[in-house]
Amino acid sequence: MSLPARSHRQPTTLTEFLYGSPYYPEHWDAATRAGDPALLRAAGWNVVRMAEFAWDLLEPVEGRFDFVLFDETIERMAAVGIRTIMCTPTATPPRWLTVKYPEVLRVDERGLPLAHGSRQHASHLSDVFRAHSRRITRAMAEHYAANPHVIGWQTDNEIHCHFSEDHSPAAQAFFVEFLRARFGGDIGALNRAWGTAFWAQTYTAFEDVPTPRPDRPTHLNPAHVLDYRRCLGHGAACFQRDQVEILRAANSRWWVTHNGCFRLIDYAGAFGADLDFLGYDSYPSFDHNPETRRFGQAFNMDYVRAFSGNVLILEQQSGPGGQGDYLLDNPEPGEMRRMAYVNIARGADGLLFFRERSCRFGAEEYWLGVLDHDNVPRRRYREAAQFGVELVRVGPAVLGTSVEFTVGVAGADFASQWGHEPITHGLPSPRNVAETIHTHFYKGGHAVGCVHPGDSLAGLSVYFVPHFAVFDPAWIAGWTSWIEAGGVLVIGARTGSKDLNGNVVAETLPCALRALVGATVEEYGRQNRPDKRPLKLAFAEGETKTDLWYELLQADAGTEVVATWNGRHLTGSAAVTLRHHGRGAVLNVGTYFTAEVVAALEPVLKKLGALPAPVVAVAGVEMVVRSGAGKRLRFLINHNEVPTRVALPSAGRELITDVPVSGEIELAAGGVAVVSEAKTS
Ligand code: GAL
Repeated sequence: MSLPARSHRQPTTLTEFLYGSPYYPEHWDAATRAGDPALLRAAGWNVVRMAEFAWDLLEPVEGRFDFVLFDETIERMAAVGIRTIMCTPTATPPRWLTVKYPEVLRVDERGLPLAHGSRQHASHLSDVFRAHSRRITRAMAEHYAANPHVIGWQTDNEIHCHFSEDHSPAAQAFFVEFLRARFGGDIGALNRAWGTAFWAQTYTAFEDVPTPRPDRPTHLNPAHVLDYRRCLGHGAACFQRDQVEILRAANSRWWVTHNGCFRLIDYAGAFGADLDFLGYDSYPSFDHNPETRRFGQAFNMDYVRAFSGNVLILEQQSGPGGQGDYLLDNPEPGEMRRMAYVNIARGADGLLFFRERSCRFGAEEYWLGVLDHDNVPRRRYREAAQFGVELVRVGPAVLGTSVEFTVGVAGADFASQWGHEPITHGLPSPRNVAETIHTHFYKGGHAVGCVHPGDSLAGLSVYFVPHFAVFDPAWIAGWTSWIEAGGVLVIGARTGSKDLNGNVVAETLPCALRALVGATVEEYGRQNRPDKRPLKLAFAEGETKTDLWYELLQADAGTEVVATWNGRHLTGSAAVTLRHHGRGAVLNVGTYFTAEVVAALEPVLKKLGALPAPVVAVAGVEMVVRSGAGKRLRFLINHNEVPTRVALPSAGRELITDVPVSGEIELAAGGVAVVSEAKTS
C-alpha cells in the first residue's frame, strides 16, 4: 500500500528557525577561515552545514581519522553563535577507497563503471561501500556525539541527483535479494506478477533475473523496470538507514534530514519516514525564463511538501550558478530574498543559502554564492543580511504552522510517477501534468498545493488526480469519505488503468474507480494531429480544444454528462461525467488535463461550490497562508516590478516592518509582507 508516513500538513520538528549556509573550511586558507564566523554572523547566520564532500580530509588514509579542521571550525562558529549541521560525506568517497575497493563503483547502462573524479560514483547497493559508509558515519557520530554545537545531520548529499541507475555486480546481487524478499522466495509469483509469458521471459531462479539494462534490441518488460526502480529506491533507503541508525544511537537529541528531491527515491515511504523531516534544495533559476520561474518554484515546493510536510531548505540559490556549459541568472536585486520568502511561505521551516562564498577551483568554480570570489561583501551579502534581520521576527512566527490551501493536486507517489516512464506513449508524466494544473490555479490566484493520494484530503474543496495510470486501490477509501463529506474529486483519463506491477487491469476502465466515477470507458486512443483533426469538449458554456488523448465514456444511470465530444466519430458521446455521492461529487474527465481543459472545468466546479474565489485578485502577487499552533500568517509576495496594492482579508501585524496593518497594503516592487493575523483556533 502506498500511503505516506506523514501528512503534508506536518511541520518540521525544528524548534528554532535555522538560517545560514553550507560552509566549506576545506576551501579556505587560515586567515579567511578566521574572519568568516564574524562575517556570517553579521548577516544573521545561526547555522552552517559542513563536511558533505570532505571524506578525503576526515579519513586521509583508511582507518586514520582527522577531525581537526572541522573541530576548530565548529568551535569558532559556535563562539559567535553559529551552530553546525554535519553531513555524512558519502557522496564523495576518497580516492584510496575506490583504488583499493573498485567493486564499489556503480555501473552505468552501457555497462561502464563510473570512475573517481567527480561525485556519486559509489554504489548504495554495494555491501562493501555500505560497510565503509557505516565506518565513516560511526567515526564522525562518536567524535561529535558530545559536541553541543552539532545540532543535527544531513545524510550524504542529494542522493540520485546526477545518477540513479546501477548495473554493477553488487547491484545485480542486491536486485536478486530484493526480488526474493518481494515475492516471498516464490519465483512463480514473480513470473505471474511480471507477465513473463510475454516474449519468453519465464525465470526459473531469482539468480537469473538481470537488472534491466537497455542493451536489448527493443523495449523491456515494464513490470521488470518498475521493480528495478523500486529496488534502487529501496537500496538508497537501506543505505541511508545504516547512517540514521548510527547517528541516532550516538546522540538521540540530533535530528536527521536529507536534501532532495530526485529520481527514484520514495520520500513518502521508508526513505522519508526514517528522517525527522525532509530537506530540499531550491534552485528556481534552472528555469531560465524569469517570467515563469516563480510558477515552477511554487510547484516544486508544494510537490516536495506532499511527501512529508514542511522542509528545511538546505540550499537555496544565492548567486549565478554554473557548471560545465551553463550559468544560471544572477538573482537581480531583491530576487534572492523574494525566492526565500516564497520557500518559507510554502513550507520551509529554515533556510540556508548556497553557498557562503564562491569557490575559486573545482567543477563549481562558477557556482557563485552570497559572497563573490574576492570576499568583498556586495549586494547579495547585504540582501542576505537584511533578510537575517527580518527573520528575527518572521522565523519564530512560522514554526509550528503549515500551509493552508483548498485546491489540491495529486503528486508525490513513487509507483505512479516512476511506473509511467517504461511506457509513456509520448504522454507527459503525472508530475508534469500536476504542474500544469497547479500553475493554472496559481496564476488564477487560488490557494493551491499538492497532496499525496494516500494522505488526508481534509481542508480541500477539490482534488485533481492527473492520469495516475499505475494506481493503488487503497487510496479509494479515504477519497470516498472525503467526497461524501462534500469534496469534489476530478479524475483524469487513464487513472487506475494499471495495477501496482505496471500491468494493465482486466476489468473495464476505470476499474477500481468504477463505483465512484459512475461511468465506463468504451474506447480510448491517442489523439493524432488535434490541430487538423480537433476533438473538442462541448460544455454548456462553449467548446474547448483537447490534446493528447481521448476516452469515449458511457455514463451509468444516475450519472450526468457535463461535456460531450465534438469531432470525428466521437461526436455526441460523453467526454466528461459527473456523479454525486453524499454531499460531494466525482468529475471524470476523458482527456488529458491542459490549462484549457482545466479552465473549462472551472464553471462546473463553481456550480458545485468546489472552487472558492481566488485568494488574491491582483496579478503578479502571490498570497499564501500558514496556520497552526494558534497562529495565522499571511505571506504576500509581489512579483511585479512596480509597487502593488493588495486588499487584506484580515487585519494584523506586519512582521517585517512590525506595524499594524488593515484594509489595504502597498507592496514595494518585488516586495514582501508577512501579516500575522488574529489568532484562530
Ligand atoms: C546542489 C548540490 C551542491 C552543489 C549545488 C550547485 O545540487 O547539493 O553540492 O553542487 O547543487 O550545483
